[in-house]
Amino acid sequence: MKKFITFEGIDGSGKSTVSKRVYEELKRRGYSAIYTFEPTDGEIGKCTKKCIDKGADPLVIALLFIADRIEHVRKIKKWLEEGHIVLCDRYVDSTYAYQSVQLEGQMEDPLEWLRQLSNFVIKPDRTFLFDIDPEEAISRIKGRKTTRFENAEFLKKVRKRYIDIATESRFKILDARKGIEDLVKECVKDIMENDGD
Ligand code: TYD
Repeated sequence: MKKFITFEGIDGSGKSTVSKRVYEELKRRGYSAIYTFEPTDGEIGKCTKKCIDKGADPLVIALLFIADRIEHVRKIKKWLEEGHIVLCDRYVDSTYAYQSVQLEGQMEDPLEWLRQLSNFVIKPDRTFLFDIDPEEAISRIKGRKTTRFENAEFLKKVRKRYIDIATESRFKILDARKGIEDLVKECVKDIMENDGD
């Protein structure tokens, strides 16, 4: 069984809905699971969100996401040591995908820079990548409070970057146009299977 699972994808891909349902299903089956997310609701996570809203410098935003994660990883390690299954809505790949696109033109190789600053992270056993066309994703989140990142042109680049980085075996790319129930089943089945690596 896999123990540390992350959910990734562009805004509106449905990963939050599906991950919460996966959490409920694991609990229903009697597993001790923890549901967590990034940006976190801690001090740094809240500050990160404010800075995005204010349109802060992308370098500042990148470093805030990483700082938020440093504290989060400490908690995740503890939960895993205590024997819980940890489900995390967004993790390091969000930074690789979103911030590497945001930092394009500001430095030579933003993705490599972000990877170097992320050597403290623990590797998920599985990362579900919810893949969807940005136009469709945006139409799903219409009416909800949106962030600066939620425009089709930017999300197109983020989607492509996600696919480019999803080369390790821990990734499983899911067609996010499928129904919620099918996606939940697919994730739960995969989590129950052996770690593989
Ligand atoms: P999101 O998961 O949408 O939080 P909420 O639904 O609670 O508002 O995250 C907010 C935005 O932050 C989203 O557009 C993705 C972006 N983001 C990054 O750019 N880098 C990161 O490392 C993370 C975790 C999120």
